[in-house]
Amino acid sequence: MSKEKIFVLDFGGQYNQLIARRVRDNGVYCEIHSYKMPVEEIQSAAPSGIILTGGPNSVYGEEAILADPKLFELGIPILGICYGAQLMAHMLGGRVETAPTSEYGKTEMNVISGSSKLMKNVPEKTIVWMSHTDYISKLPSGFNKIASTEVCPIAAMEDNDRRLYAIQCHPEVTHSVDGDKILRNFLYEVCECKGDWQMSSFAGKAIESIKKTVGDGKALCALSGGVDSSVAAVLMSKAIGKQLTCVFVDHGLLRKNEAEQVSEIFGPSGAYDLNFIKVDAKERFYEKLKGVTDPETKRKIIGEEFIRVFEEEAKKIGSVDYMVQGTIYPDVIESGVGPSAVIKSHHNVGGLPDHVDFKEIIEPLRDLFKDEVRKVGLELGIPEELVFRQPFPGPGLGIRIIGEVTAEKVKIVQDADAIFREEVAKAGLNYDINQYFAALTNMRSVGVMGDFRTYDYAVVLRAVTTIDFMSAEAAQLPWELLEKVMNRIINEVDHVNRVLYDCTSKPPGTIEFE
Ligand code: XMP
Repeated sequence: MSKEKIFVLDFGGQYNQLIARRVRDNGVYCEIHSYKMPVEEIQSAAPSGIILTGGPNSVYGEEAILADPKLFELGIPILGICYGAQLMAHMLGGRVETAPTSEYGKTEMNVISGSSKLMKNVPEKTIVWMSHTDYISKLPSGFNKIASTEVCPIAAMEDNDRRLYAIQCHPEVTHSVDGDKILRNFLYEVCECKGDWQMSSFAGKAIESIKKTVGDGKALCALSGGVDSSVAAVLMSKAIGKQLTCVFVDHGLLRKNEAEQVSEIFGPSGAYDLNFIKVDAKERFYEKLKGVTDPETKRKIIGEEFIRVFEEEAKKIGSVDYMVQGTIYPDVIESGVGPSAVIKSHHNVGGLPDHVDFKEIIEPLRDLFKDEVRKVGLELGIPEELVFRQPFPGPGLGIRIIGEVTAEKVKIVQDADAIFREEVAKAGLNYDINQYFAALTNMRSVGVMGDFRTYDYAVVLRAVTTIDFMSAEAAQLPWELLEKVMNRIINEVDHVNRVLYDCTSKPPGTIEFE
């Protein structure tokens, strides 16, 4: 496989991860770096091309963040998008000013394709996604105008000799009808990429590199049963077999049958060659959570107790050389304008253990996006139900039970949740809804069952559709499905006499019900 790669330099735009995704989808490996990355480092990494992202600032404002002028002299092809386009115009002698009207949303763009490489085969009129208040009002010398809109006299420009390209719209957004064509033109016509980055070659390469790094050392992995840590563990086991020990802590707050499933897949009867330790710590967690009702306190207790249990197990194993973390790319991306990188802690509830002796952290998935991790998982033969697992919070059902957590309440929410998940899958909706689960309210109310008065709990069902989990909408589930789930929960789960559906969006709600 060739070493071709694209660098996306992050100026704080909201679509930066999407740009990287689109590039990878087109078969070219891509990394996001801060706009502060020194030019010398870029030069020695020798990317095939560079993309400058959008950003919230004005190039002429006090807050402007500029690039090193040497960037444009490297001879590496550059595509500026939105703020990146204005930056290129501004720094190379053009003019950028406030547009008479902002353009936001779907906009018609007139394309002058002519001999343009960036606009090759793009129709004369195409719909693009715009989001800007500044525009390029004068071309820098050496550039040709290759597109305009009603508001933007220069919606795209290029200098083929210097291989510099700029576009005001967002080609990475699906609303830009020919956006992918424009990106592909940059990758293939301008940067002359071959496009041989494939997820299928990832696993083999990762296994080789882990073998090299670990040698005959020992590695330890906290396995949660979630997608990331499971894929990381399988990659490690394929590389180093029994030199890897996975510790799976059952904190008693997992979904119904989840602990058994994880043990079946990774334990001695499973398909993988690794040391698997399952710790049954249910009672310890329930004891610590006795009488605690505040959600943040519950999270803290669960996180801390998890670390203590993990440390105790690690001590029994003795010193290890490497700690394995299922960190994925969105967790490590350094924002160009924000503070330093945010690294996900290994179980994302409590951080790394303080008292475990290890030399180094290994993060075999740190270059991958979530759906790429899933592809690797499938390729490694991990069962589909695990690979496509929905997000599940580290503190588990502990935060889906309002008020005090008890073993009895855990059982109620596990059973109700299992019914809900089973029925959603039967209705064929499991891939359409991004996250759905049952939670237990702390409310008890009067009901009637048969000839008896009841005074029992209300279960709440939550189902959301979302792209990024930052905002979400309640899913419009078919009424028959809700009715069936309600009936089954009332009939099959003791101590529940009401089922509610949460129709709150996020914001103002959160996805979890805690
Ligand atoms: P909220 O409830 O904040 O959740 O809208 C957004 C997404 O994050 C998940 N979530 C967590 N994931 N550890 C995790 O790994 C946690 O502590 C945690 N808390 C919430 C939640 O399930 C949703 O997908």
